[in-house]
Amino acid sequence: VHRYEKWWLTFGIGTLAVFLAVLGLRAFASGHTPPGSVLTVDPELIDTIAPWNAPGVYDRGDRVDVYLVGQAFSYAPNRIEVPVGKPVTFHAVTKDVVHSFTIVGTTVNMMLIPGYANEATYTFKAPGRYLVLCNEYCGVGHQFMQAEVIVR
Ligand code: CUA
Repeated sequence: VHRYEKWWLTFGIGTLAVFLAVLGLRAFASGHTPPGSVLTVDPELIDTIAPWNAPGVYDRGDRVDVYLVGQAFSYAPNRIEVPVGKPVTFHAVTKDVVHSFTIVGTTVNMMLIPGYANEATYTFKAPGRYLVLCNEYCGVGHQFMQAEVIVR
């Protein structure tokens, strides 16, 4: 092997080693671990177990819980009315494949993964209508999968 080629190989492998070491040390230092306490749910039981068997908006006084079920190619409920200025926690599951629950113009953008419940909290600052879209390609009807959040 040519001398320059050896230098480049050493440089390339060295860079990779440094990169992986920095990544690993940073993850270790900041205590990154795989999620250990995620809420799991059997997709086949969604229609029969609470709270997923009664999707909808639940006003708890100082905050609001919204339980959502996604499936190809719709959301239940698909018209979600929430109050302005109160923290709204969206809890969502999917009955079939991977979907997303994305409220356009907000920070709510979560994946719905079969077997797991996901959640995101958002406080709407102004009344209005917000479009909900599915961001994960989920089949032939993917582009029709949408809902609406109405903030009053
Ligand atoms: Cu559901 Cu794309």
